[in-house]
Amino acid sequence: MKIVITGGYGFLGQMLAKKLLEIGKLVDRNGDLKTIDNIILIDQIEPKNPIKGVTSIFGDISDPQFFDQAITDDVDGVFHLAAIVSSAAEADFDLGMKVNLDATRELLERCRKLPNKAKIVFSSSVAVFGNTPPIVEDDTPALPLSSYGMQKILGEYLISEYTRKNYIDGRAVRLPTIAIRPGKPNKAASSFVSSIIREPLMGEKAICPVDRSQSLWIQSPSVIIENLIHAYNLSHQDWGNESRVVNLPGLTTTVAEMISSLQTHDGNTSLIIDQPDETISRLVKSWPGVINAKRAHMMGFKNNDNFDSMIEEFIDQHIS
Ligand SMILES: NC(=O)c1ccc[n+]([C@@H]2O[C@H](COP(=O)([O-])OP(=O)(O)OC[C@H]3O[C@@H](n4cnc5c(N)ncnc54)[C@H](O)[C@@H]3O)[C@@H](O)[C@H]2O)c1
Repeated sequence: MKIVITGGYGFLGQMLAKKLLEIGKLVDRNGDLKTIDNIILIDQIEPKNPIKGVTSIFGDISDPQFFDQAITDDVDGVFHLAAIVSSAAEADFDLGMKVNLDATRELLERCRKLPNKAKIVFSSSVAVFGNTPPIVEDDTPALPLSSYGMQKILGEYLISEYTRKNYIDGRAVRLPTIAIRPGKPNKAASSFVSSIIREPLMGEKAICPVDRSQSLWIQSPSVIIENLIHAYNLSHQDWGNESRVVNLPGLTTTVAEMISSLQTHDGNTSLIIDQPDETISRLVKSWPGVINAKRAHMMGFKNNDNFDSMIEEFIDQHIS
């Protein structure tokens, strides 16, 4: 079985590749658990330490010819994770359109021509919602208030339509904000959600650009990876014909509650500096803080128990 991960050297892409190497199997288009023979990581950035045991292809997915070579006829499935993240897509509309929308269509067009129908998991986001009711339900309309959210929902529509036409077997998962992400801050508007915990745990300062009463819908990196794999392993029938999109489960918390949990884990909360940022506050405020993810629970997607366990996961994996 040959699996492609676009954005393969990004944060989730690397975690997913390592997890797939570890488990070694996925459920194929016929519902059989099959050995993964080859994992192809596609990214535009060449890392200092390429992952061993995978094939890496470096290039720009927004080059219209790129996928003709990168996706060969023997590809069984794709995790499409490459994207221009929220603040960056808001700052550069054309780049966001090229990578998040045009390249997604090019990828689906290439997959449409494959001899065997490919399973495709698309990482969408809660950013497809804007100014939502207090609790988002499975059928709450997604009316994005950001370029990124608009590009993600158009990606979902493409996944659904190419699946309806029987060109691919697509699945789109709306990821909550990820907490706590290791490494450096990135250009996601939600980057502070990780920074305000990660940096103080390492004795460094962090900026909090939103009001501390801001509520958030979050999930830990390891559970997100489990859910991406689960989205792939479910059968075409498990997804059904009605909707190829699901709101993943998550935890509702506020910035203040996260900071209080940091304190109980010996984090120095005085290192968090409140520095309101209008653009980030506006984007984050437009995302839902509470989602009743009924369908995802019924389909067997996982969730974290509480925020304390998410901090502990980060400390175990990146600090201890
Ligand atoms: N991290 C989160 O909180 C979160 C939340 C919701 C959704 N998502 C989605 O999950 C996916 C993965 O997120 P992540 O946190 O790993 O992001 P990331 O920024 O760490 O990784 C994205 C990768 O895509 C690559 N990429 C970007 N443009 C490219 C291009 N033109 N050609 C080739 N590669 C390109 C980047 O080099 C990067 O390695 C994205 O689609 C993102 O929108 C993430």
